Amino acid sequence: MKTGIDGIGYSVPKLAIPIDGRWSLERANVFSNGDVAALRSKITNGIGIMEMSIPDSHEDVVTLAAGAMRDLLERRGISLNEISHVLFASEGGVDCSKSASSYALGLIADYFGADASHIANVELKFACAASSYAIEYAQALLRAGMCSRKYVIVVASDIARYELGTSGEYTQGAGAVALALCQDPTLIELDEGPMAAASSDERDFFRPLFRPFPTFDGKYSVEVYLSLVERAFGRYSKVMCERRKSSVRDVVGQAGGLLFHVPFPKMAEYIASRLLLPHFENVERLSPEHRAEAEKSFRKTPAFIEMFADKIEPSLALARRVGNIYSGSLPLALAGFLLQPEARLSSLGGKSLLFFGYGSGATARVYSGTLLPSPDKSALPRPLSSFGRQEVSFEDYEILHAQSEIRQEQSGNAVVVPLGPSVLKPRDEFVYLGMKAQPVSELGLRLYKYQA
Ligand code: CAA
Repeated sequence: MKTGIDGIGYSVPKLAIPIDGRWSLERANVFSNGDVAALRSKITNGIGIMEMSIPDSHEDVVTLAAGAMRDLLERRGISLNEISHVLFASEGGVDCSKSASSYALGLIADYFGADASHIANVELKFACAASSYAIEYAQALLRAGMCSRKYVIVVASDIARYELGTSGEYTQGAGAVALALCQDPTLIELDEGPMAAASSDERDFFRPLFRPFPTFDGKYSVEVYLSLVERAFGRYSKVMCERRKSSVRDVVGQAGGLLFHVPFPKMAEYIASRLLLPHFENVERLSPEHRAEAEKSFRKTPAFIEMFADKIEPSLALARRVGNIYSGSLPLALAGFLLQPEARLSSLGGKSLLFFGYGSGATARVYSGTLLPSPDKSALPRPLSSFGRQEVSFEDYEILHAQSEIRQEQSGNAVVVPLGPSVLKPRDEFVYLGMKAQPVSELGLRLYKYQA
């Protein structure tokens, strides 16, 4: 049975902060001993980020998810009546019990003025890998004939917010991506396994319930990412190479695109060299330090540069301007890839796409599919320019960052504080209005609406 992706939509905040503006002037003292040019070069070249999406005070993972679902449903012409399930992937859920999918679907049903009561929905969590698990879940439902309607919607939504002045600050971002999966898809046919896995109980990155920011060990998190994705890829390629009677070099060489989870764009270079070097050189005898050096040298070779430009760089176009969106990051790489010029995209029709998911804590998933020829334009993502994004001032960036809806009083009690004012007046979008502080029976209930 053929199953896969039939359309993609996404949403990002209207505010963004460019690296080469006030941000680097203000942060040079913290990160580069006052050398602004060095900081700009490090973040834009060494990390690969040009600007970061910043959520306004009326935005959260629910409004972003509803925005992405609306984009997908309106452009692809899908009605709520055609949806069987909504699977909401996020590492930053808004409630310990109530599913974010329920809030998002409530907004969508109100917006379309349609009944959504038949739609099964749930929130899934495994850091940034939840979207890959949601895609696997959707495929299983479709293949098992367990869907009451045509489509399963996977929506991945997150806000990556780190403490200011830490090495996570320049990898922040926010956004959501929605995918429509069905039988006989027109955009991407997903392969029937293997969705290879590698998992390990790790301390690389997590967000305890009592903290608004993640606790992370940056360099170690990169190492865990590299090692688990490499192990999952080993399992994937063993099956795929046997099935296709070909080598890893051929499987990669014949692919139209390699799409990665992108916590920051440079990570795609690190992981691509980790995965491919063993197929160009014998690395078994190398110590970890020598292997890292060999990977760095490999990244400078014409073979690597050409492969990267051809198969990976296009998928980083959105990540460079949006930043990390955790569970939405791999789907955003797919959106970036699909935004290539029409002629280029049609030349890739029929080629395979390899997906590399990773979630801290930690798990990696590797899977693949085929880009189908001549997809309808309505199945493809809209350009980033259509969101009318604006630069946020440095002052507003810091104010928005400092906003926390919950204040911990000295007595230890949590107190709900009102949301700060929006930087941009919301228009034609979903809006988070804040949490209810009373009556006690509704304490902490979140309020949303569509603002025309
Ligand atoms: N010009 C050009 N390049 C420069 C430069 C300059 N002036 N200065 C430094 N660079 C280069 C460095 O040489 C390096 O490149 P190479 O590796 O090729 O040598 C690159 O910039 C990065 O430099 P550093 O390693 O020194 O960067 P850092 O100390 O800022 O750390 C980071 C990077 C660990 C990713 C940090 O940003 C971080 O902690 N981020 C948050 C955690 C994270 O994103 N982890 C990713 C894996 S976990 C995951 O994937 C889940 C998730 O989404 C969070």
